[in-house]
Amino acid sequence: MCGIVGYAGPQQALPLLMDGLKRLEYRGYDSAGVAIQHDGVLEIRRAEGKLANLAAVVAKSPAAGATGIGHTRWATHGRPNEQNAHPHVDCGGVTAVIHNGIIENFEALKKPLVDKGHRFMSETDTEVVVHLIEDELKSGKSLEDAALAVVPTLEGAAALAFVSAKDPGKIVAARISNAGGVIVGHGEGENYLASDIPALLEHTRTVSYVEPGEFAVITAGGVRFLDRAGTQLEKAKTTITWDTVSAAKSGYKHFMLKEIHEQPRVISDTLLGRVDRASGRVVFDADLKLTDDAVRALDRITLLGCGTAGYAALVGKYLIERLARIPCDVEIPSEYRYRDPVVTKGQLVISLTQSGETVDTLAAMEEGKKRGARLLTFVNVMGSQASRMADDVIYLHAGPEISVASTKAYSTMLVDLYLFAIFLGQRRGTLDPTAGGKLLAEVFHLPTLVDAVLREEPKIKALAYRHHQAKDFLYLGRGVNYPTALEGAHKLKELSYSHAEGTAAGEMKHGINALIDESLPVVAIVLQDSTYKKMLSNIQEVRARAGAVIAVANDDDEEIAQNASEVIRVPKTNELLSPALAVVPLHLFAYHVADRRGNDVDQPRNLAKAVTVE
Ligand code: AGP
Repeated sequence: MCGIVGYAGPQQALPLLMDGLKRLEYRGYDSAGVAIQHDGVLEIRRAEGKLANLAAVVAKSPAAGATGIGHTRWATHGRPNEQNAHPHVDCGGVTAVIHNGIIENFEALKKPLVDKGHRFMSETDTEVVVHLIEDELKSGKSLEDAALAVVPTLEGAAALAFVSAKDPGKIVAARISNAGGVIVGHGEGENYLASDIPALLEHTRTVSYVEPGEFAVITAGGVRFLDRAGTQLEKAKTTITWDTVSAAKSGYKHFMLKEIHEQPRVISDTLLGRVDRASGRVVFDADLKLTDDAVRALDRITLLGCGTAGYAALVGKYLIERLARIPCDVEIPSEYRYRDPVVTKGQLVISLTQSGETVDTLAAMEEGKKRGARLLTFVNVMGSQASRMADDVIYLHAGPEISVASTKAYSTMLVDLYLFAIFLGQRRGTLDPTAGGKLLAEVFHLPTLVDAVLREEPKIKALAYRHHQAKDFLYLGRGVNYPTALEGAHKLKELSYSHAEGTAAGEMKHGINALIDESLPVVAIVLQDSTYKKMLSNIQEVRARAGAVIAVANDDDEEIAQNASEVIRVPKTNELLSPALAVVPLHLFAYHVADRRGNDVDQPRNLAKAVTVE
């Protein structure tokens, strides 16, 4: 997600803001900008792409002033270009806003503003906020009073900061829900603002955290904290002891571990705005242009993805076939592009890709397009090649994923697939409305359930430490968790460098049983669903051959203890949603095996984050 910095004090703000933004570069971004206020004037400088571009802009046209805010943008609404870069300003160019998060109801808020004559310059959800503030400031309110009036009308997730030439020397910051951080850094005669600790450490180690529903009013002389009603709050000050490197990882040892723990939040972000409250129907934003008629006319879907994205695609097949009754094939992009695939009229090709730059996936998309398919992509990086090539786009909203091993992007792919399969089922009439409503409610409960699985980490870590020396692993699953077994094995391979094989448990007797002996840990996903009895028989076959079974089982499954040597527990949910829970312990297991071995977890050997070569 986006990075936020701010400064109020006696020094020139520009170099401090640029330095703060530089320290947030690790988060990933696609454009950047600053707003600096002095002598009743607000100066805005923005640039698409890397900070070097913004540095070139400010070198040519410096902005003087001792109060300012800065932003690195990770696009969610509107393409990554200069026009959509933050800060955004009101019609008079006197007030600016920066924002991290998604404003769900921006369209509803925008319409009356446009009717009143407000001029919008960007495609973002954010800009609406500064026009609302503009109206409030007209009545002579202070910047904080304007923010107190506007911020509660916003739905969704947001960390926001404002400066205004109408209320000089002041930054107002606000936070709704859990989106992004809002951290105030306390200095001597100067104060700072940042979304993340690394941007502050150079200047101060004394900070206060702004919690959801709170506001901070930052000036050179001091900081006031307010609640929603404008009542002043007493805030504790915390001393940061982390160094810059661990601060970038929010104190986690690796980005991968941080990203695994971000899942409850990013799943919530992915779900934001995706259900129409009145009708209970799934809705996507304007980047999905498939009409209801086009949905009804679909007769086949091909899903494409490499590695982890390919396993998400396989889960997608189970979901779409079950809920929307459309036949689906899952294809490996590097195979699809070189064979002679049959594409029929009425076929949709869906690609799944975190980066949107995986060359095999892009080439396979091109092949599908050439043969007449409509292209939909599920992608995390806005403005990436996949998002530009596709007819329709569904964004993952996972925020930047830095670790080479994909975890939170995988979970958000699953969540978007749940929503998309329900979307198709609702429009094709294949999903009973009551069952669909119940399923959606369970999708919205996933962040809480993932959080419960994350709390099991100490047990998973101990398990990983017991098995870290094993040279081979077998992962078994059935039904919708067959892809989970493949993903668990994939992650263990790429991180630990051990051999791991994932298979559909029903396939064991056709060859794989020959591998089983006491030295082979067998990780089996044995949930209380339609495959439970069959999975129990499969693990009994393993036990009969002296194999050690590590079962991923439901919380209240008492029978499993007699059938497995070790058990990892996950909460029970709808069978179709269970891959989003069962994969979490497998990712943690792979992480801790690799870490115990001393491997470079975030940068495994021979692998790259975006595979832009064949
Ligand atoms: C995942 O842990 C891997 N690093 C890899 O399999 C990855 O999922 C694959 O290369 C696809 O990447 P993409 O999602 O960016 O297209």
